[in-house]
Amino acid sequence: MGFNSIFENLAVRYAHKSIQKSLYNEFNIKILNNETYDKKPESNKSYMLYAHVPFCHTFCPYCSFHKYHYEQELAKIYFENLRTEMRQIKEAGFDFSSMYVGGGTTLINEAELEKTLILAKELFGITEISAESDPNHIAPESLKRFRGLIDRLSVGVQSFDDEILKKVGRYEKFGSSKEVQERLKNALGVFKTLSIDLIFNLPNQTKSQLLNDINIAKSIEAEQITFYPLMKSNLTREAIARTLGVSNVDNEREFYELICENFSDYHQNNAWAFSKNVSDLRDEYVGSNAEYVGVGSGAFSFLNGELVINAFNLLDYGRRVKSGKSAVIAKCGFSKKEQLKYKFLVKLFDGAVDIADYNAQNGANLRKDLAFELSMLKLVGAIKQSGGVVKPTRFGRYLCVTLMRDFYAGMDRVRAIFKDDAKIKSAKNLRIMSKDCDTKPQQNEPLYGAM
Ligand SMILES: C[S@@+](CC[C@H](N)C(=O)[O-])C[C@H]1O[C@@H](n2cnc3c(N)ncnc32)[C@H](O)[C@@H]1O
Ligand code: SF4
Repeated sequence: MGFNSIFENLAVRYAHKSIQKSLYNEFNIKILNNETYDKKPESNKSYMLYAHVPFCHTFCPYCSFHKYHYEQELAKIYFENLRTEMRQIKEAGFDFSSMYVGGGTTLINEAELEKTLILAKELFGITEISAESDPNHIAPESLKRFRGLIDRLSVGVQSFDDEILKKVGRYEKFGSSKEVQERLKNALGVFKTLSIDLIFNLPNQTKSQLLNDINIAKSIEAEQITFYPLMKSNLTREAIARTLGVSNVDNEREFYELICENFSDYHQNNAWAFSKNVSDLRDEYVGSNAEYVGVGSGAFSFLNGELVINAFNLLDYGRRVKSGKSAVIAKCGFSKKEQLKYKFLVKLFDGAVDIADYNAQNGANLRKDLAFELSMLKLVGAIKQSGGVVKPTRFGRYLCVTLMRDFYAGMDRVRAIFKDDAKIKSAKNLRIMSKDCDTKPQQNEPLYGAM
């Protein structure tokens, strides 16, 4: 191992420890029992709107996103509540130019999603909407109703390898690699951007499996391809080991380099997304927008230096929204220094930090406020500066990938805290309670749905 690699490994380990310190040791979640938190915009700030759709037909072992088993009636009630919360956000004075709909499976109830997106465009100055889907909801006949509403659709494929798809249970649910490829090709051209989401560094994934994923993904000619590094947390570690096995070799860095080499003819949108053409549409609501408002059950917002958490439990969420009470159940503040580090990371992850812009947006003096971090990043060769712009080097991009991966895994700590709260009694019970807000759940009824 060369001197540079030793240095770089140390830097990766140091960065990992440092983000763990921020997200774990200093993660100070305050549950709001008697206090109410109302989301309010600050003047001169722009925000992005995130809407969460927490329903899937079946659950995948590596996925920790907040979700319930789909039931049409539940989803209808949920979408109504989501629209009510959006109206409340409008009344609070927010406006947005972009919206990201995440899940779960956002297209699981097309009529309800359509109503919700139309309302979002009526309420706010939204000019671009991104949504996620699984490969079962991308038939052109279904997608066409969203023309003019959705601009970018990212489809979760995860891998084009049938063996991997079988292990994670997606082969039976979403079809073979060949079938998924066909569906993706048919979905091309319906929206401005079709994006393919893949995961790399799965346990026991070989280099040739990854190269195969890369080649097939490129051959489909989708406008964008995103390669997420496998993120593991206490919520998913066991299920991943059970289905994909355990590997004592970590190929993350090698595989990431391989991906970057093979996408050198693409435009790098951010550290893990590649576009065929230069595009303004980003794949990460976290990446491009340091501040965002989350609506929906279990949605996170990042507002005024605080992580703000909506009720996870569908019933609690519905009751709050219907009664005009804030959907927020908890928040977590970060020190000014932590906020500056986070905002620097998301800009670097996106590809460049314009120092003057950064200083103006954050009331900061980057060179002074993050002097230690900048000199460390320079020392390990992770950043380069030219004029007033800081950019990641090739190694710096990888460092950003690891930090973002840690950041997402850190969010699972929040989900873990509320996991039990998220459980709801039987679907029947939920329907009754949604109509009559005072009815208490029956004891000893089976728990329903939450992941
Ligand atoms: C919230 S999922 C929704 C996608 C859609 N429901 C599907 O199954 O295709 C969005 C994307 O996050 C990525 N993702 C989910 N869990 C992940 C994990 N543990 N590690 C890396 N990426 C993950 C997957 O690529 C997935 O397609
Ligand atoms: S990957 Fe998609 S389908 Fe699978 S559990 Fe997560 S959100 Fe649901």
